[in-house]
Amino acid sequence: MDFRGSHIISVTQFDRAAIERVFDVADSMQPFARRERRTNALDGAILGNMFFEPSTRTRFSFGCAFNLLGGYVRETSDIKTSSISKGESLYDTARVVSGYSDIIVMRHPQAGSVEEFSRASRVPVINGGDGPNEHPSQALLDLYTIKKELNANNRKIDGMRIAMVGDLKHGRTVHSLSQLLLLFTHITFTLISPAELKMPENIVAELRAAGHSVIETDDMEKGLNDNDTVYLTRIQEERFSSRLEADIYRGRFKLNQEIYTRNCAPNTVIMHPLPRDSREEANELDNDLNLHPNLAIFRQTDNGVVVRMALFALILDVVDLVETRASEVKWYTAGRFDN
Ligand code: NCD
Repeated sequence: MDFRGSHIISVTQFDRAAIERVFDVADSMQPFARRERRTNALDGAILGNMFFEPSTRTRFSFGCAFNLLGGYVRETSDIKTSSISKGESLYDTARVVSGYSDIIVMRHPQAGSVEEFSRASRVPVINGGDGPNEHPSQALLDLYTIKKELNANNRKIDGMRIAMVGDLKHGRTVHSLSQLLLLFTHITFTLISPAELKMPENIVAELRAAGHSVIETDDMEKGLNDNDTVYLTRIQEERFSSRLEADIYRGRFKLNQEIYTRNCAPNTVIMHPLPRDSREEANELDNDLNLHPNLAIFRQTDNGVVVRMALFALILDVVDLVETRASEVKWYTAGRFDN
């Protein structure tokens, strides 16, 4: 895969060599993300960060990743204050914003919208989530996290067992992660969801055709047995016709210390794309696991920065420049990355 100047719209663009390349570059970004060194490889470049759906970590981490490479960030974060609310087409917005920016990250509630936008854009576009469809950078950071967590005790992605829990119908992160895992071998997927919120049939069929085992169940406690990773998701309330409809499913599956200890193998890694819904009636991932060593959710968010730095560096072709334009960090840096 040639990253230079390319749009990142779907995980189906990747092969294993491309994933390895992203992960190697992400590793080389660690000292910069950890504030041990700094670089101005993207000095003068502008990221157009266009978020037409709620976001905290995706928007922020893309912005920080670009800043850490020395670039500037401009952003729109509200559909109501953007010209899209005046009836402007994606085509026009893309033509305009791509004249102002060197690269664009876009999130939009409609499936397929980011691809449509990218066709009109004059600069590379990264999909920051298009409705329930895809979230490729999240899948890459999830896989990078899984790899690191499993490698820590000599396990691998090939042959692993992963449980995905929650709203598998609407969750774009599990759609993208599953499709990325098509490139690996002999994975056992245990898909735990209410019958109405199952993983789309086409994805399940693709997983089976790739030689993976897929078990679908609504029995969470049984499904949690014997996994390397448990990946929890939030009920995607914004994809339902009403809050009331989402309430039917909210709180159906909850992982806490007691359920984890009773059902999960000792080294099971706990992941969640975040935000977790911590309201009492939902609480899919309880705070009583916050200090558990296998809770990887904040390592996952930290990994999001280096993976996004890698994507920018590869697409804008500055991987080598990062090193030559590096210098030392002069400000006080606390030990926030120590664990
Ligand atoms: C996810 C998303 O927006 O799809 N969040 C994220 O980007 N980390 C998951 C979610 O909102 O539940």
